[in-house]
Amino acid sequence: MAKDTRILSGIQPTGKLHLGNYLGALQNWVALQDEFPNGCYYCIVDLHAITVPYEAKTLRSRVFDTALDFLAAGLDPGKSTMFVQSEVHEHAELMWLLNTITPLGLLERMTQYKDKKKRHSDAINAGLLNYPILMAADILLYKASMVPVGEDQVQHLELARELARKFNNEFGETFPEPEPRLTRGARIMSLTNPEAKMSKSDNERSFITLDEEPGSIVGKLKKAVTDVGTTGELGPGGRNLITILGAIDPATAAKFESDAKAGNIRYGDLKSALAEKLVEYLAPFREKKSALASRPDEVWDILHHGSDAARKIASATLLDAKKRMGFV
Ligand code: ADP
Ligand code: TRP
Repeated sequence: MAKDTRILSGIQPTGKLHLGNYLGALQNWVALQDEFPNGCYYCIVDLHAITVPYEAKTLRSRVFDTALDFLAAGLDPGKSTMFVQSEVHEHAELMWLLNTITPLGLLERMTQYKDKKKRHSDAINAGLLNYPILMAADILLYKASMVPVGEDQVQHLELARELARKFNNEFGETFPEPEPRLTRGARIMSLTNPEAKMSKSDNERSFITLDEEPGSIVGKLKKAVTDVGTTGELGPGGRNLITILGAIDPATAAKFESDAKAGNIRYGDLKSALAEKLVEYLAPFREKKSALASRPDEVWDILHHGSDAARKIASATLLDAKKRMGFV
């Protein structure tokens, strides 16, 4: 990858970030800002967050909380541009243009759409269907060629690639085709249902947030489901706990792994070892987040400054796209 590679990713401000978000995405974002200084754009996608029922009066505070999570996890505004999607209106405008070249059939095939349609069957709006077009606009506006995400987003990225190709074919070479950058396969599962991924929109007991209190970490892990699977073998719940442990302390995880192979793993011990390591691992994060929370002006400044920088690039790309489409 060239040193001038541009990178873009986004997370919805739909709740506090959890271990899955960190190990599946954010950790990678932090690493990339050193690999590609000045090339990283990280967006809080508040326009995406309104596609499912939400509370208007807490939207802004959720954006703020997500920014705290970004900074506490190690994103550095001196190296990366952190910004708010709705503060750069070009995202919504490019989305409209891309709408008109998006085949409806492709949208209806999206797994996330089908899942959400089931979960919110009483509130299906066009935004839920068009969600991936807005995501394509987020990426293409910055001509990003690398998009660090978890594997659940790969299908959406395929659509962004398809739209870039289609636009380039119809209107001339404008957008590079964005490639996903996946982490080492870290897919963290729910603590209460290890068949489903850990998700912010699930119940409280199913995830551990990055600022989770020590007592609560211990309590949630104690109740984590580990007994699925045949006797003596590692079930999906136990496997998930070992995956999490492996991400923060590979040596201890390897010990439990070999116990499991020998058929004598003790889940109680695994849970208390993981709880102890996690409390220690998340402590600096919790401290940093609470220190930042007491300096809201500074955090909003970082975001507004980021949005100004993002807008410069976004407006140039949008103008180019509008020229090519015959508007200018
Ligand atoms: P959530 O489902 O918790 O609302 P998002 O859809 O906002 O999470 O995802 C934000 C980022 O975190 C995406 O890049 C996504 O792929 C990644 N991610 C979310 N959940 C997990 C998980 N359980 N394991 C690994 N990565 C995840
Ligand atoms: N759809 C992504 C998710 O649910 C969030 C997102 C929106 C995104 N725009 C993006 C991710 C652009 C990467 C690039 O996680």
